Amino acid sequence: MTALERVARIEHRLRPWVVKLPPSLATKIFSRGRTWFAHRLETEAPSHQSIVSEPVRAWNLTFRMPVWNAAGMFKEGGGFDAMFAQGAGALLVGTTTSEAREGNVRNGVQWPAVPYPESRSASNWMGLPNPGHIAVATRISRMPRETGFPIGASLAADPLMDEDLAMKGLFNGFNAYSLAKADYLELNESCPNVPGAHSADLDRGLMRRLEIVSEKFLKSRHRPLPVVVKISNDVADEQLPSLLQTLVELGYDGVVLGNTSTQYAELRRKIKSSETALYDSFTSTYGGGLSGAVLTQRSLHLVTQAARILSAMTVPQEFHIIRCGGVFTGSDVLASMEQGVVLHQWYTGYFEGFARYGHGVYQRLSKSIAPFFMESSRTDTLS
Ligand SMILES: Cc1cc2nc3c(=O)[nH]c(=O)nc-3n(C[C@H](O)[C@H](O)[C@H](O)COP(=O)(O)O)c2cc1C
Repeated sequence: MTALERVARIEHRLRPWVVKLPPSLATKIFSRGRTWFAHRLETEAPSHQSIVSEPVRAWNLTFRMPVWNAAGMFKEGGGFDAMFAQGAGALLVGTTTSEAREGNVRNGVQWPAVPYPESRSASNWMGLPNPGHIAVATRISRMPRETGFPIGASLAADPLMDEDLAMKGLFNGFNAYSLAKADYLELNESCPNVPGAHSADLDRGLMRRLEIVSEKFLKSRHRPLPVVVKISNDVADEQLPSLLQTLVELGYDGVVLGNTSTQYAELRRKIKSSETALYDSFTSTYGGGLSGAVLTQRSLHLVTQAARILSAMTVPQEFHIIRCGGVFTGSDVLASMEQGVVLHQWYTGYFEGFARYGHGVYQRLSKSIAPFFMESSRTDTLS
C-alpha cells in the first residue's frame, strides 16, 4: 500500500467525525486536505493494475475502459502516471481558462470543498483555479501516448471577461490543445462557481458561444478532434431536445451530462440528518456545486432522455453522450449502458473508490462491468 492509499483510507474513516465538528472548522480541514490530496495524486506513480474491461470505441478513439475521471481532478495537467497505471479509460485535464486563475477564497478558506460521507456526496466552491490553457497544453504535448488511453482537455471561456476577449482566449485554448495533440476537448459550459457561468438555463450567451465555437473552430478543424459540451445536471428536461438539436446542427461531437448541481433545497432531502448542519452552512456561506450520490438518479434520467431524443433525430455525425454525476459502482455504469450510453466520468465516486481500493479502484470497477461485455458478445454471437 502506498502512503497516499494509506492516507486516503484513514481519512475516509475519520470523515464522519470531522463532519461533526463546527462547520467552519470542518470546512477548513476538508478544504486543505482535498488540496493536499489532489496535488499528491497528480504526481503519484503506482504500479500497473490489470483491467478486464473490453475497450470501447468512440469517434476515432479507443478507450480501454468506459470510465475515466471527470474534469477538475487534474486542473494542472498532472495525473498521467496514476490514471494510466490504475487502468482508467482516459485522462481528462483542466478545466483551464486563457488566463491563470487563483480560484475562490472566502473566510480564509482557499478552494472551499467538503464531503458528506454518509450521503456519499460533496460540495465545492473552487472557482476554476488553473494555470491557463498554454501551461496545461504544454504538459499534454510532453505526455507519452498509450493505446486505449486518450488524453482529453476541458476548457472554458474566462468568466467576467469581455465576450470578444473571452472568445479569443477560448480559441487560443482550442488551438493550443489541438497543437499539443489532445485526443478530445470538452467545453465546460456549466461551472456554478464563477459568476455568470452556470448554464442550467440555456441562455442566449451560451447559444452565441456555441455558434461562435462552431463557426471558428469546429468547421476549420485540421484533424479529427472531437469536441463535446459539458452541461449542468440541472438542465431542465424540456430544454434537452433543443439543446441536443443545436449541438448536432452546429457540428459538436457529443455532450457531457453533466456538471454539479445548485438545487440546494431539493437535494437537501438526500443528505443524511447527521450532515445537514455542514450542508446548510456550506451552501449558505459559499453556495458551490453539489456532486456525488445526490446526482446519480438525475444523471441517469438525463442520459436516458438524451439517448431517446437522439435516436429519434437525424444525426449526421458520430455523436456520443458521456454520463457524469453520481457514478460510483459497476451497477451505476451498467444502468446507463443498458440505455445505450457507454461513456462515463466520475469524480466524487472515484475518491470514495480510491479510499476503499486504492490504486485498484478501476480494476475493481472493470470487474463489475465485465458481465455487460460478456452479455453483449453472447448476444452478438447469437444474432
Ligand atoms: C472539487 C471539484 C472540482 C471540480 N472542478 C471542475 C472543473 O474544473 N471543471 C468541470 O467541468 N467540472 C468540475 N467539477 C465537476 C465534476 O467534473 C463533475 O461534473 C461533478 O463533480 C459531478 O460528478 P460526480 O458526481 O461524479 O462528482 C468539479 C467537481 C469537484 C467536486
